[in-house]
Amino acid sequence: MPPMQTMETILKRLRDLPILNSEAFRLIEYCSSPKPAFEVLEGMVKNNPNLAGQIVRLANSAFYKRSKPTETLMDALVLLGLTTLKQVFVQSFYASVGKMLNTQSRVLEHGRECALLAEFIGRGAGLDAAECGRHRLGGLLHDIGKQFLAFFFPQPYEQVTRMMKLERTPSFQAEKKIFGVTHQEVGATLCARWNFPSFLVDIIKAHHAEGPGGPPPGALPVFCANGFLHQRDGEAFQPWEAPLRAWFAARRVTLPWKNLVDEFRAFLRTHTGSPLA
Ligand SMILES: [Fe+2]
Ligand SMILES: [Fe+2]
Repeated sequence: MPPMQTMETILKRLRDLPILNSEAFRLIEYCSSPKPAFEVLEGMVKNNPNLAGQIVRLANSAFYKRSKPTETLMDALVLLGLTTLKQVFVQSFYASVGKMLNTQSRVLEHGRECALLAEFIGRGAGLDAAECGRHRLGGLLHDIGKQFLAFFFPQPYEQVTRMMKLERTPSFQAEKKIFGVTHQEVGATLCARWNFPSFLVDIIKAHHAEGPGGPPPGALPVFCANGFLHQRDGEAFQPWEAPLRAWFAARRVTLPWKNLVDEFRAFLRTHTGSPLA
């Protein structure tokens, strides 16, 4: 399939899905408007008890906690600020994408594990909580393009899955053959179009970066976490240990793990309870 045709079909068929009418998507759009006001955001969020509760809890978490607890939604919104709120809304949007596209649970689980591990790598490298949060969100969403390809083109995507299994072809190479585009390109195009934070678009675009340069530093934790997961699950994977060591060396941080594979495995086992970990 020619690449333009794949992308155009996705965009056209997206119009028939109520995803872009979801509350979370409207909130992302509003945060990206020229002059968003907290009063308006409060009005939009307060009728959604889940989201409102999540925001107040986050404002009272160890990272933001002030001497007095934040009790009102308005105080919580102001304390977190637009940048963080947008990330909360993106995460909520992603949850509705999974439900609406009926994404297989193992794909969602892969995102969750990648999120945990990318954050763990960031913390090991001494990144601050806000940076670690960005890698966590990047890990969660990195394969969002796969969800849309598999949903809109179920049969061709079966071919991709077969090629991955039988020929041990990495997913993005099989997709390139079948669709003319990769899930990184699809995901990054959609997320840029939807005004998602640019760090997220960059991570999605570069999480399978090939070539001697490897991934850009901003995408490295997700690249490595993803590589580890594919290796652990016996699939084709991109070498990730050398780029990880080089990244730590460039940051002048001593690697806090002796045996990367065993320690990453143990970390995920204690944090996700996945039998595969
Ligand atoms: Fe991927
Ligand atoms: Fe992945």
